Amino acid sequence: MVTPTDSRVTIITGAGSGIGKATALRLAHAGCIICACDINEEGLRETAKAIQSSGRTCFTGRIDVRDRESVESWCSEVADRFGKIDCLFSNAGLNARSAFDEMTLTQWNLVIDTHVTGAFNFCQPVLRHMVERRSGAIVITSSDFAVVGVPNAANYCAAKTALYSLTKSLALEFASYGIRVNAIGPGPIDTPLLRSGRTQEQYESARRNFESRLPIKRLGQPEEVAAVVEFLLSSGAAYITGQLVQPNGGQVIW
Ligand SMILES: NC(=O)c1ccc[n+]([C@@H]2O[C@H](COP(=O)([O-])OP(=O)(O)OC[C@H]3O[C@@H](n4cnc5c(N)ncnc54)[C@H](O)[C@@H]3O)[C@@H](O)[C@H]2O)c1
Repeated sequence: MVTPTDSRVTIITGAGSGIGKATALRLAHAGCIICACDINEEGLRETAKAIQSSGRTCFTGRIDVRDRESVESWCSEVADRFGKIDCLFSNAGLNARSAFDEMTLTQWNLVIDTHVTGAFNFCQPVLRHMVERRSGAIVITSSDFAVVGVPNAANYCAAKTALYSLTKSLALEFASYGIRVNAIGPGPIDTPLLRSGRTQEQYESARRNFESRLPIKRLGQPEEVAAVVEFLLSSGAAYITGQLVQPNGGQVIW
């Protein structure tokens, strides 16, 4: 567990909502310095307000993870301001559901660029800082869908498998520098993303479907994923690297 005196500088992408927000709040409560970014300015403001109102530090950036130049300059700003980067939670994401036959190149590129290129854009500058200090921990948000296929989500599944693969390669490449890289593979978590691209009726039907077939008969909560991220970034996980850890209600067991 992270101790209450922990002041590790932690970058979180997609921190304005859902899993990223819950993780930012949890790690801030544990004493981490939170550097939160998102394209959702209102969500980001709410995250920062919640953290700062409890007397903790939250530095924010309106950053699009696809925009390499602004990612690099914001990471440098974080390192200059706080003197180090201890942890990265690369988590920003979205969905653009479509039958494969109807999937446009725009939908394909949006999902691949946001998830895969977005993670590349953050991991590279952050790892350069971590290598200098010979220490660091990264968690990348993949999904259960990294290891199973899902209809109408070929772009999302391809992106999530790529992120798992990226995680394994980075774990091997950077272990000798004292840096650990793991992925999480959440199941269905009750966040705005689960609703996106679905009407209320479609969402209710999907939720009932999840609840009936999941071994743990309910959707997961973002706080339950945040607890796993906290552990993976902590010294308690010092012997874990290159793994996909799945807070998924038993959705996929393999
Ligand atoms: N909710 C689920 O069921 C579920 C399951 C498995 C994996 N995930 C993954 O968890 C991660 C977080 O999703 P969530 O469920 O918390 O959804 P969410 O919609 O609540 O949060 C995602 C955040 O990412 C931000 N974002 C999107 N594109 C961005 C960009 N280009 N640059 C910066 N920020 C951007 C959004 O603005 C949003 O605030 C995603 O990678 C998602 O794929 C979610």
